[in-house]
Amino acid sequence: MPVEILSEKSASSRPIWFVGKGKLDQVNLPDTVSFWARAHGFDGEPGAVLIVPADKGAIGGALFGTGEDKVEGQSQLVAGKLARSLPEGDWHIEGDIRDAELAAIAILMGGYEFTRYRKPKGKAIRLALPKDVNAARIRRIADAVTFVRDLINTPTSDMGPDALEQAARDLATKHGASFRSIVGDALLEQNFPMIHAVGRAAAIAPRLIDFQWGRESDPKITLVGKGVCFDTGGLDIKPASGMLLMKKDMGGAANVLGLAAMIMDAKLPVRLRVLIPAVENSISGNAFHPSDILHSRKGLTVEVGNTDAEGRLVLADALALADEEEPELLIDMATLTGAARVALGPDLPPFYTHDDELAAAIAAKANETADPLWRMPLWQPYLQKLSSRIADTNNVTTDGFAGSVTAALFLSRFVEKTRGWAHFDIFGWTPFEKPAFPVGGEAQAIRALYQLIEERYPA
Ligand code: BES
Ligand code: ZN
Ligand code: ZN
Repeated sequence: MPVEILSEKSASSRPIWFVGKGKLDQVNLPDTVSFWARAHGFDGEPGAVLIVPADKGAIGGALFGTGEDKVEGQSQLVAGKLARSLPEGDWHIEGDIRDAELAAIAILMGGYEFTRYRKPKGKAIRLALPKDVNAARIRRIADAVTFVRDLINTPTSDMGPDALEQAARDLATKHGASFRSIVGDALLEQNFPMIHAVGRAAAIAPRLIDFQWGRESDPKITLVGKGVCFDTGGLDIKPASGMLLMKKDMGGAANVLGLAAMIMDAKLPVRLRVLIPAVENSISGNAFHPSDILHSRKGLTVEVGNTDAEGRLVLADALALADEEEPELLIDMATLTGAARVALGPDLPPFYTHDDELAAAIAAKANETADPLWRMPLWQPYLQKLSSRIADTNNVTTDGFAGSVTAALFLSRFVEKTRGWAHFDIFGWTPFEKPAFPVGGEAQAIRALYQLIEERYPA
């Protein structure tokens, strides 16, 4: 059940006292509450929740342990736990709040539930925010996370390329953006051959979603998201275990839509463009084959070493288009490789950029927003691993090493002019529950990127 935000404390609202580790003395607590805390050995351990009684067996409030200041390995989003451990009703935050905005975002994120196919099970919790926080901003961020998770959690039967287009169109319309979609054979006419090749075997036609928002004269930001609505692997078919989660292969698209939603909602002074190649990597008589040579928008020919490396193919044509207008910032997000998870696990997406300043800024914002990201190198010597005997490049390497790096290097060949390009190889999924992260589709990198863009282009 989503946590609801109250604009003001209600009369029945109960306090959540935030207490740092070993800092019970430093929080201004009623005597009965601090006795109760001591009697239970409550010491502000991160994530500890202790319900405090009031008269006649009612609930008087809750103590919440926030742990120590910025400890490595301790998420700043532990407050997400409250969404699932507080009793129903109205609550407000008090006490030792180091970052009230992050705590509120964590609670809202932790209360997420996917309710498209059944009634919500969670508790009805309403939260009054501390006075000094920017409620509109918190809501904007939490809504974007919900939007992303809903898109990813929706299975392919209800989130094919057509439905993904509709979701993008609805968002664009809401904010008055100009929208177009290039569908099916029109992709060939308008020179997006690789998007067509990957998506043509599916029952629902492949397409390139393209919308633009903002003033033409403002700095250009372009977001590109991998919108593979299902990845069977194609003729190089995945085993059942590898295919099970592949509804999430449009996680890059979902995330760029979430980021776009925040940018437009905040009316940041930028010219935003969103490009989503939306396809299903499916199997039928007209599927593209291993060893096919594809022509690309950029003009490079690409030998298909593996039809399961489809994301980089559809992204390449979209990135080539994005690069044509040389935006100031070009961000692409994609559930691109299993190898990224081997390297860093599901919770720490790698990103790649040639631009050291941009990399440092991204790393700093990732830290500030508890939206972890880790830079990996565009290691040029590995480019040769992508060489093909008969085409300009192969889409995979043969040795299987450095899979996330070589996928990023493949993409880099299609971005020639744009200096401020960054590629995010995200997982888009929470496999094991954490306080602010229920199992399922996940928003990754967009809270960090929103903060970066918001600070760089203040409204
Ligand atoms: N969508 C997958 C990557 C993926 C798999 C992301 C599992 C997250 C979880 C992508 O299209 C893919 O299949 N990549 C292959 C590339 C390989 C054939 C070079 C992979 O990672 O195995
Ligand atoms: Zn694949
Ligand atoms: Zn894929």
